[in-house]
Amino acid sequence: MGSSTNSKKHILITGASGLLGRRLVPVFTNDYNVTAVVFQNDLQESADEDIRRAREKKCDLTDARQVEQLLAETDPSIIINCAATTDVDGCESDPEMAYKLNCGIVENLLNAADNRELYFVQISTDYIFSGGEGQYAEDTTPNPLNVYGRTKLQGEEVVVGSGVDALIIRTCALYDCGHAGKTNLFSSTYDRLKHGEIVRVASDLYCNPMWTVNLADSIKEAVSLHLNGVINIAGPEYISRYDFSSAVARHFGFPDYLVEAIKLSELARAANRPLKAGLDISLALRTLSTRQLTLTEAFTRIESELV
Ligand SMILES: NC(=O)c1ccc[n+]([C@@H]2O[C@H](COP(=O)([O-])OP(=O)(O)OC[C@H]3O[C@@H](n4cnc5c(N)ncnc54)[C@H](OP(=O)(O)O)[C@@H]3O)[C@@H](O)[C@H]2O)c1
Repeated sequence: MGSSTNSKKHILITGASGLLGRRLVPVFTNDYNVTAVVFQNDLQESADEDIRRAREKKCDLTDARQVEQLLAETDPSIIINCAATTDVDGCESDPEMAYKLNCGIVENLLNAADNRELYFVQISTDYIFSGGEGQYAEDTTPNPLNVYGRTKLQGEEVVVGSGVDALIIRTCALYDCGHAGKTNLFSSTYDRLKHGEIVRVASDLYCNPMWTVNLADSIKEAVSLHLNGVINIAGPEYISRYDFSSAVARHFGFPDYLVEAIKLSELARAANRPLKAGLDISLALRTLSTRQLTLTEAFTRIESELV
């Protein structure tokens, strides 16, 4: 039994060196032939055998010619696009860069894929909404507050406008332990608390944070089911950043007085942020059997990676 390597579908995962991509690659390498596309970082150093089974390609996806060459060489039947910039303040000060990364890459991939049979999965964000109400359903009309949200929405529009067989997965506030990629909500809190440092976090910024491993498993199921349209996949708890950092302190036995609540406005950030962001995940709960883990469940699993 078991299928030969040649009968496996070929999947191209962009942004494979990112926070989500690093977790996504290993969940696919057993059942698919995976090309992991990176740019400035790579996965070579990974000790994870499931990651090393992927074929790694370096490509500047903002360069249309490089993308054409990449697709000609690899000929994937599925693309999961995790390449983007998530630097919300950086996007505000450099909208051109934001557009190139969050929308231009989508255009390049879809133009290069023209005439190929392709299933395209685009990762998007709750930051396409204004944050007035929170827990947005898939059919809510977007109204982004900042350049990051606007360019991510433009990326979604390119996917829809192309008519390609596609799924848009919206998620929010990804977290993971520090060695799994860039600094994030969990790693920045945990690292400061470990050194006895104060963590000042916004108590008025809400979303449903999602553990990247849990998201990767959910994406794999969504791809296996060949879902189309838009689906929200995020954590089950709707909480503030302050609640999140306090939960980290409680779970890992750090004094909770180290976590201080502030207002987002006190952080004097370049970009506005949707205060009540977050996603309604009822469709995901009805459609996927992969369960969205609570913070306690995810933290318990992360614990084993911290030692
Ligand atoms: N992080 C969050 O909290 C969050 C929340 C909601 C939605 N999302 C969405 O989830 C997706 C993944 O986010 P993430 O947090 O994993 O992002 P990330 O850690 O910032 O990773 C971004 C990835 O994009 C790649 N990339 C950047 N410029 C590139 C270029 N010119 N050519 C090719 N690749 C390029 C990077 O490659 P190198 O590192 O090799 O340069 C990296 O692998 C994004 O679509 C994001 O909008 C994220």
